[in-house]
Amino acid sequence: MKIAIYDSADDAATAAAKAIAVTAAQRPDLVLGVATGSSPQPLYRALGHLVQAGQLDLRSASAFALDEYVGLDYQHPESYHSIVQRDVTAPLNMDAARVRVPEGLALDLCRAATAYEAEIALQGGIDLQILGIGGNGHIGFNEPGSPVDSRTRVVDLTGETRSANSRFFPSIDHVPTQAMTQGLATIMAARSIVLVANGIDKADAVRRAIEEPADLSHPASLLQRHPRVTFYLDAAAASELSTTLAAMTAP
Ligand code: GLP
Repeated sequence: MKIAIYDSADDAATAAAKAIAVTAAQRPDLVLGVATGSSPQPLYRALGHLVQAGQLDLRSASAFALDEYVGLDYQHPESYHSIVQRDVTAPLNMDAARVRVPEGLALDLCRAATAYEAEIALQGGIDLQILGIGGNGHIGFNEPGSPVDSRTRVVDLTGETRSANSRFFPSIDHVPTQAMTQGLATIMAARSIVLVANGIDKADAVRRAIEEPADLSHPASLLQRHPRVTFYLDAAAASELSTTLAAMTAP
């Protein structure tokens, strides 16, 4: 596990984007995993700048979104179909046909989840998974207690997560109660992982993920067992790490 700490979220995003561009240059048919939420937005903007500057070409790359709400119209501005199109597919000039999002409106959700997992396998698995982290340590929508061997499936959202995400909706009553998410085993199977976290609200979740023993009560802590994971943090998100870690310089 590498920890890279920067003064600002934009600095962290710029560094993460450069690292991703190096990987993409080596592998034009890169398979990305993409998170939604506010944390990766500076990273997507930084990647967009590299695309505009001709330093990153993702036209032959594919992407699989981490998750999607169940029952939310894909046209809804807060559906992850909309967000991925807005934050990833369009600004990164990706081929829309190669960008997939879990089918949260499928009639047979179980079958759709299995099919999503099969599509990832068909693409050869995810090369580089971009992750955020929930305040309760969730990754994707794998809430505390999610099984370590979980694959893409439908999950119930905790009150804490619905409350956190209610900022994107008129009220908490509008926040869906379920989601379809890549599982912990799906995420851990990615060949490399970039986790971005910004702001003081994530400091405790980041500390628990990095410094406490890996435990399913804090799903992000499982990343300690992944061979190639880097946390890109701004100073606030890193502020509860032990002094030794906080003194580490960015790679
Ligand atoms: C959301 C998403 C996650 C995201 C997390 C944190 O609910 N399902 O993929 O990483 O919660 O979101 P944010 O970055 O907005 O704090």
